[in-house]
Amino acid sequence: MSRWRKLCSLKSLNIGSCNKITFDNVRLIAYVICDKVYVIKSQCHHKRYPLYDGKIQIIDNEPYIICPWHNRQISLRTGKVSNHDDIQHIYNTKIVDDDVLIEKTLRTN
Ligand code: FES
Repeated sequence: MSRWRKLCSLKSLNIGSCNKITFDNVRLIAYVICDKVYVIKSQCHHKRYPLYDGKIQIIDNEPYIICPWHNRQISLRTGKVSNHDDIQHIYNTKIVDDDVLIEKTLRTN
């Protein structure tokens, strides 16, 4: 059984800005950056404060969100946190036709 589920349509997302989406009662944020869609939990792994106002930075060709509370750098691709062992919960994504599909990763937080 496929674990991929439809999150939303691609055209419903704003390019380059934070898209707030509630999915299965979990608050997520989605970004469209360079034709890729990144989806992460909206609560920061650190103190569970919201990441909505985090700035996006490209570091070594990889998009990061900078947590607005304590400035941790979180990879949108892997969920890894620079200079920390913590992991942000992310979702795998793929686009099929105009649909954005997500798959839960095994990473938990
Ligand atoms: S709440 Fe995000 S780094 Fe502390």
